[in-house]
Amino acid sequence: MADTERDAAGAAPDLGEKLDGAGLAALQLERLRETLHHAYERVPFYRESFDRAGVRPDDLRSLGDLARFPFTAKADLRGQYPFGMFAVERSRVRRLHASSGTTGLPTVVGYTDRDLEVWAEVVARSIRAAGGRPGDTVHVAYGYGLFTGGLGAHYGAERLGCTVVPASGGMTARQVRLIQDFRPEVIMVTPSYMLTLLDEFERQGVDPRSTSLRVGIFGAEPWTEEMRREIEERFAIDAVDIYGLSEVMGPGVAQECVDGKGALTVWEDHFLPEVVDPLTGEVLPDGEPGELVFTSLTKEAMPVVRYRTRDLTTLLPAAPGRPFRRMEKVTGRSDDMVILRGVNLFPTQVEEIVLRVPALAPHFQLRLERRGRLDALTVRVEARADAGPADRAEAARAVEAAMKDGIGVSVRVEVVDPETLERSVGKLRRIVDLRQST
Ligand code: DLL
Repeated sequence: MADTERDAAGAAPDLGEKLDGAGLAALQLERLRETLHHAYERVPFYRESFDRAGVRPDDLRSLGDLARFPFTAKADLRGQYPFGMFAVERSRVRRLHASSGTTGLPTVVGYTDRDLEVWAEVVARSIRAAGGRPGDTVHVAYGYGLFTGGLGAHYGAERLGCTVVPASGGMTARQVRLIQDFRPEVIMVTPSYMLTLLDEFERQGVDPRSTSLRVGIFGAEPWTEEMRREIEERFAIDAVDIYGLSEVMGPGVAQECVDGKGALTVWEDHFLPEVVDPLTGEVLPDGEPGELVFTSLTKEAMPVVRYRTRDLTTLLPAAPGRPFRRMEKVTGRSDDMVILRGVNLFPTQVEEIVLRVPALAPHFQLRLERRGRLDALTVRVEARADAGPADRAEAARAVEAAMKDGIGVSVRVEVVDPETLERSVGKLRRIVDLRQST
């Protein structure tokens, strides 16, 4: 890329970012056709699934025709465990990752050399949009291993020309030391683990606002505007959102720009998004909330066609002068939705409420129990260190009232001592479901 195309900070935009709307649509159509052929010809699962639905790759004449093709669900991927979804010979698969498989078999994903290139490129693009620049040091505290967070962030940061500190998750005291000694400008970590780091800074008597950090790139779990405010204020950094999932690639499917917070840009030249009605599967127009569905456009080892993410969001138009559509922050997964006496509730709604109460820390847990024939929810939340008994009682009442008025559910709130709830070292589990055992 010519030097004249580099911006003042020396970062070069990659080609995808320079497309216009028409150029993007043409590229998507061409790549989508190739993907459908590749999947149909190389993966028996897709051949059978397309045949059952009575569609062939050549039936796709416009992007809108994608709606005629069948969805792919997580259960389909599990059903092909371990390598049944792969579309290339095993010798061309350069890397494997897998989901944790909390329920049943893990989901295995594979990458060719070119897939790894594309992944590094979209993560580099994401870090750049977040405000990272070549020459910055990036502290990666996403877990390394089968989880895509650590290695995904790692190669993207290297691709951008950053110095990477591959800290991974855990050994929290040492992380705080490394941040002080290596002086990174950027940290990539789950928002819940950032809060664990915050506790550790304070335990060590180090002012978290005094670090070299400028930007935090947070993802792998839902987090709210209230949490952004908390983290930005406590660390004196910009906090931006990175979204992704292993089935589609890993981190770097969509990214919030540091100068346009509030929505994430979907890297639509590689991942084609749709939002559908979660019940009927009908494609919804941009601007309407629903379940996010992705079709990969360039993946070789494991193309995905209309993969149902179960993540809930809304697609938004591209920012002026930009080719790619955006999406709202993912507020939750349909799997994390608690249905309490007929009312739908997401942990992020509780996060919003808890963080608005000054006496409460951003650490909470939702405990679901069965009382008699009814489900009951207890919100256990930590008090801030300086909150006295009267503040705590008042805080509990405030959360109960906000849950009742704002969401329409009656819950019990227990305000517990600081540092009593389990801390995150990666993705945090907010919901403790005791309904089987009670
Ligand atoms: O969590 C990939 C990733 C790593 C993304 C690091 C961002 C940063 P999985 O383990 O397959 O992959 O989990 C994917 O996590 O379907 C969402 O439910 C959730 N998720 C990921 N990013 C966000 C986000 C990685 N920014 C699942 N906001 C997804 C809300 C997110 N939820």
